[in-house]
Amino acid sequence: MSKALILNFSQVSHNQTEVESQIRDIFFMTSSKKEFHSQKEKEEFEWKYLGFYLKNFPDFSWICVDANIVVGYILGIPYSQNEDLYKIQPHLKQFESYFVDYPAHLHINCRPEAQGKGVGKQLIMTLLNQLSEQKIRGVHIMTGTTSLNRHFYLKMGFDREIEHTGILFMGAKL
Ligand SMILES: CC(C)(COP(=O)(O)OP(=O)(O)OC[C@H]1O[C@@H](n2cnc3c(N)ncnc32)[C@H](O)[C@@H]1OP(=O)(O)O)[C@@H](O)C(=O)NCCC(=O)NCCS
Repeated sequence: MSKALILNFSQVSHNQTEVESQIRDIFFMTSSKKEFHSQKEKEEFEWKYLGFYLKNFPDFSWICVDANIVVGYILGIPYSQNEDLYKIQPHLKQFESYFVDYPAHLHINCRPEAQGKGVGKQLIMTLLNQLSEQKIRGVHIMTGTTSLNRHFYLKMGFDREIEHTGILFMGAKL
């Protein structure tokens, strides 16, 4: 992965449709939800955790490209207290009191064959530096309480852990 490039999504002008399609592939490949009752349900799921971020926060979206293939992406939002987001992700509201210290959040996924090679670390460090430069005080993620990715986030400094209704909230100060 030594030649892999980290690019800001808002600056991808060439082949944007192809890049979006590769991001979408990674999204569905890595998602724990595999079954959809209808195309509409599938599209709503994609909008909730992918499309909303690319459309509204392209500056906080980064991709890792290796040999012309998108091997990972990270989507960020600087302030999670966002009424439009609450409409599609109502579960966020139960952690609202922690958004004072950890206002930003992110979603990250890497292609299965690119995992464990430092791509996730490069992507997350890029976003965390960007948020820190913009004086955002903290960032969080939400994952399953038994999820393996917890160890990745712990390594990346997400040391504030709160469990509630089967969701694990992990926060990092910036
Ligand atoms: C979680 C994920 C983004 C991590 O990215 P990655 O490229 O595989 O991780 P990296 O290779 O950059 O690892 C960075 C560090 O975390 C550690 N790490 C990563 N995954 C780990 C795991 N499952 N258990 C323990 N440590 C782990 C690495 O050992 C490495 O430590 P180091 O810096 O001391 O060498 C990626 O594996 C992935 O997409 N997983 C599937 C989807 C997923 O879980 N997404 C997150 C949804 S909340």
